[in-house]
Amino acid sequence: MEGNILVIGSSGQIGSELVMELRKSYGNNKVIASDITNSSYEIMNSGPFVILDVLNKKDLYTIVKNYQVSEIYLLAAILSANAEKNIKYGWELNMNSYFNILELAKERIIKKVFWPSSIAVFGPNSPKKNTGQYAIMNPTTVYGISKLAGENWNEYYYRKFKVDIRSIRYPGLIGWKSKAGGGTTDYAVDIFHQAFTSEKFNCFLSHNTEIPMMYMKDAIRATLELMSANYNDINIRSSYNISGFSFCPNDIYSEIKKYFPKFEICYAPDFRDDIAKTWPDTIDDSEAKLDWKWKTEYGLKETVKEIICNLKPIYKTIDNEK
Ligand SMILES: NC(=O)c1ccc[n+]([C@@H]2O[C@H](COP(=O)([O-])OP(=O)(O)OC[C@H]3O[C@@H](n4cnc5c(N)ncnc54)[C@H](O)[C@@H]3O)[C@@H](O)[C@H]2O)c1
Repeated sequence: MEGNILVIGSSGQIGSELVMELRKSYGNNKVIASDITNSSYEIMNSGPFVILDVLNKKDLYTIVKNYQVSEIYLLAAILSANAEKNIKYGWELNMNSYFNILELAKERIIKKVFWPSSIAVFGPNSPKKNTGQYAIMNPTTVYGISKLAGENWNEYYYRKFKVDIRSIRYPGLIGWKSKAGGGTTDYAVDIFHQAFTSEKFNCFLSHNTEIPMMYMKDAIRATLELMSANYNDINIRSSYNISGFSFCPNDIYSEIKKYFPKFEICYAPDFRDDIAKTWPDTIDDSEAKLDWKWKTEYGLKETVKEIICNLKPIYKTIDNEK
């Protein structure tokens, strides 16, 4: 690769894992991590890290120039549940940050962009089962509205200015390396930590609210595969549906309970349950399979096993230090 890669939002749930995978693939010094807050020790000590507010266009341009950046992964955003509490800022951050990047690409200062969309682009009128790439999209949240607008801008900048934009509609992502960032699917990350630290979990979704989800490792692999696919194989520039596996809180609870027999769950659905109920149950990702050979590896069982195995030594150390 000619230039370097800039990841914006490297302290977040996805950024903290994506930066390390990109550094493995391209070399530590080729991947510049950035965020408005400090990132993990691992990120800040394995390669370049800069503090950047993506809304500050001048600082963004300076960093792109100084570090000879040719590719940007824009991960800074306010997620679904938090954006509902701050509608105006949700729109401002999610949209204005993106315009700053799109303009850099239009001016050919950068060559390639990754921008994540979400299953939140779908809404109550979208089909619930096997929701297709081109299904009706009528999002009901400011987050979903901003993601759908972003997808339309992707198409526009690609068609009009030939900007090489690539995007994935991530389902809810579950990992163990960092806490979730204020989304409707956060419960599926928090439940693991509660299993280790307490005997009871209060779930903010109903027991039977099913949502498409994916293990973080698969999501990171999908991102790298899409970004390295041949330009001519990318037939969808708005954003690709990808599917991992779908479950409701009761399914993941039952799987975790196999490892923690005393673990209990109780349900107190709040506004996030109303949001989740407008989203699809399952996703059809035929186009991603066809265009860039996407294939999920992790199911619910494997995901739960791997997360528990990874968290066990961490919680053991914490217990020993008490
Ligand atoms: N995590 C998921 O389940 C999921 C699902 C679908 C889509 N996505 C999308 O993926 C992207 C990353 O998600 P995430 O879960 O890592 O989010 P996150 O909230 O964990 O991380 C976002 C990061 O952006 C940073 N940030 C906020 N404002 C900033 C600013 N002005 N300048 C620079 N950095 C700023 C935050 O400090 C944070 O570290 C988002 O666009 C999100 O919508 C995530």
